[in-house]
Amino acid sequence: MKTFSKVGACLIAFSVVVVIVYQDIALNSISRSAKSSTVGNKEESCLSRSQLVLYRKSSPHKPSSYLITKLRRYEELHKRCGPHTKSYNRSIKQLVSGQIDNSTDCRYVVWVAFCGLGNRILSITSAFLYALLTNRVLLINQEQDMGGLFCEPFPDTSWILPEDFLFKSEINSFEQNYNYSYGYMLKSNIINYSTELLPSYMFLYLSHDYDHHDKLFFCDQDQALLSKVPWLIMKSNVYFLPSLFLISSFEQELSKLFPDKETVFHHLGRYLFQPSNLVWRLITQYYQDYLAKAEKRIGIQIRVFDAETSPFEYVMDQILACTQTEKLLPEVDTEKTIAAQSENQTSKAVLITSLFPGYFEKLKNMYGEHPTKTGETVAVYQPSHEEEQQSYNNSHNIQAWVEMNLLSFSDELVTSAWSTFGYVAQGLGGMRPWILYKINQTKPDPLCGQGMSMEPCYHAPPVYDCKAKTTVDTATLVPHVRHCEDIRWGIKLFNSSS
Ligand SMILES: *[C@@H]1O[C@H](CO)[C@@H](O)[C@H](O)[C@H]1NC(C)=O
Ligand SMILES: *[C@@H]1O[C@H](CO)[C@@H](O)[C@H](O)[C@H]1NC(C)=O
Ligand SMILES: *[C@@H]1O[C@H](CO)[C@@H](O)[C@H](O)[C@H]1NC(C)=O
Ligand SMILES: *[C@@H]1O[C@H](CO)[C@@H](O)[C@H](O)[C@H]1NC(C)=O
Ligand SMILES: *[C@@H]1O[C@H](CO)[C@@H](O)[C@H](O)[C@H]1NC(C)=O
Ligand SMILES: *[C@@H]1O[C@H](CO)[C@@H](O)[C@H](O)[C@H]1NC(C)=O
Ligand SMILES: *[C@@H]1O[C@H](CO)[C@@H](O)[C@H](O)[C@H]1NC(C)=O
Repeated sequence: MKTFSKVGACLIAFSVVVVIVYQDIALNSISRSAKSSTVGNKEESCLSRSQLVLYRKSSPHKPSSYLITKLRRYEELHKRCGPHTKSYNRSIKQLVSGQIDNSTDCRYVVWVAFCGLGNRILSITSAFLYALLTNRVLLINQEQDMGGLFCEPFPDTSWILPEDFLFKSEINSFEQNYNYSYGYMLKSNIINYSTELLPSYMFLYLSHDYDHHDKLFFCDQDQALLSKVPWLIMKSNVYFLPSLFLISSFEQELSKLFPDKETVFHHLGRYLFQPSNLVWRLITQYYQDYLAKAEKRIGIQIRVFDAETSPFEYVMDQILACTQTEKLLPEVDTEKTIAAQSENQTSKAVLITSLFPGYFEKLKNMYGEHPTKTGETVAVYQPSHEEEQQSYNNSHNIQAWVEMNLLSFSDELVTSAWSTFGYVAQGLGGMRPWILYKINQTKPDPLCGQGMSMEPCYHAPPVYDCKAKTTVDTATLVPHVRHCEDIRWGIKLFNSSS
């Protein structure tokens, strides 16, 4: 079954990596109308765009005015070059002919969906920053499983790849060895850096299991070549954005856009991903029903990748030890019991997200049966337990998106190492989470620790020095790109001073 094997590939993603290693308000403040992608052509305003500020803590991190200006200019470009405009139609002609001509100045990055929603949100954000840096227009190949999740981010246009796009029916099956793949063409000597007649499109394979030639994408020389190709089709399931900060031709622009390196996903994520009206109703309903009354909201995102190496009891002990020693949750007095809890007194609400109900049940029973030593009352909630990740199921993705948003409303957040789901929640919320370090048969020491940057981790970074043509630890080249707290071979952005 097609779907099944695709899911397999994503789950394998994480173990393969091991082997290989070797809006903010301000962004939306210039008011603009926006359609919701949920309801076909019918224009409907995007409720979350104006209402998110009522739920999410406002960000103490202000975007640079340079970023805001850049986004406004991008919006104009997207409107001019977006689907079915005159310029787009002319660009499509180039795509069909395979030849580059000078009939339009619009260039594109087409992003192809792949893996779980967290991976997708992170790779879309990476593709968007790449588009900003290279003056391209980002179009996303939205399969049905992703439909109805987000509002259209750019005013008076669409970022959805049209149904009549030339490769629409086959684009999802483009793989690493596709004959227009950049890495493949280099490896097979079909092109080289002096080739003059380049095709009008190329495929970029930027997924966890890419090879040396695919990764040359991150070299200046290759960027110079790629800049001549009007259509780039990109398949990625990773947050490759940190490596853009190591390409010297982007350096100056990036430092103007993001003086604060820790907030790249925070700003771009809030800007790009506004819940659709359908999703927004689910989010606000749940919030009002369970979380609104609490004085403090604690989000705990639990993701167990391998139940054999991370047994339930170990994870449960880790959660309890971490939340209590870090004073996120109070201890209970197991000598005493309480009869009934008044919902009105709830001082802390715990929101658990997990594929399984066990952790929730245990915490809920604990706080339901025993009084806390601090006198606080703690209510525990879990919106769903889907048992198995189904990355290619629309209702599963809607639920995941609801829960990422609910987590982002937390006052304190606890996340699981390696999880892109947690990265999205922390970035949208603007929080440095408490990370439950990975359990691999033995308990990690320490059990958890606070992240030093709220940026997501790039799980499969290249380890190549383009100039010296040797292997290099890319976490050692500039002060703001270093190894992640949760994956030792991953890289992420930090504030230089942090
Ligand atoms: C672009 O082409 C589509 C059909 O492929 C057509 O419907 C549309 O009107 C064209 N746009 C312009 C501005 O001519
Ligand atoms: C585009 O290319 C054609 C032929 O290759 C040339 O005649 C024309 O002047 C060019 N137009 C522009 C705007 O460069
Ligand atoms: C690329 O592969 C497709 C089929 O997969 C084939 O139709 C096409 O001719 C190939 N193109 C080149 C340039 O080899
Ligand atoms: C580059 O590719 C062209 C064919 O596209 C070939 O004629 C040329 O010899 C190649 N150059 C090098 C340095 O390999
Ligand atoms: C909770 O508060 C509401 C209104 O503030 C009140 O009507 C209700 O009786 C209270 N419930 C309990 C169990 O104290
Ligand atoms: C998608 O998930 C929902 C809820 O878990 C389930 O009811 C539905 O059958 C699934 N659909 C497919 C196509 O697997
Ligand atoms: C878990 O530990 C074993 C033994 O130390 C090691 O071989 C394996 O690669 C580890 N797995 C992960 C996912 O880290």
